[in-house]
Amino acid sequence: MSDELEIYLYGSEILRTRCDPVDSFDDSLRELYEGMVRAMNREEGIGLAAPQVGRALRLLIARDERDGWPRVLPLVNPELIFLSRERGGLEEGCLSLPGITAEVQRPVRVKVRYQDLEGKEQELEDDGLLARIIQHEHDHLEGILFVDHLSLIKRKLLSKKLKALQQRAREV
Ligand code: CO
Repeated sequence: MSDELEIYLYGSEILRTRCDPVDSFDDSLRELYEGMVRAMNREEGIGLAAPQVGRALRLLIARDERDGWPRVLPLVNPELIFLSRERGGLEEGCLSLPGITAEVQRPVRVKVRYQDLEGKEQELEDDGLLARIIQHEHDHLEGILFVDHLSLIKRKLLSKKLKALQQRAREV
């Protein structure tokens, strides 16, 4: 379907952009959220940020399974207001870097302040997978990708795959 959102790949300039705050909480924001949920589910992801679908806005979505009822949370204008000193390693991937995974070290517990689709301020705290997704997606809003967190040596090992993706991004 032509109105489905496409995922921008590594090498696309928008993935290196610092995104703008969302200031209107209208139908177009909800449509963007719903389009992102469809794109994420289609690609079997667990999180997605607006720049990955070509929109430089501070909106991310994250799969939330904390209470056993999977749903997709929209976080608008998220701010990480607490990051634990304790860090942990976890294997990460990204829909903009298909075929690449690597262990990334990040704070274990986060607290995030954000707005919902109505513009109402919300807060959540987590120390599980959701905390990880939120940090990964929040990075996207700053133009940061998970491979940026890797050591030079690890990145060098991935450089062939990264170059191939860059080539693909230029072709679409
Ligand atoms: Co990502």
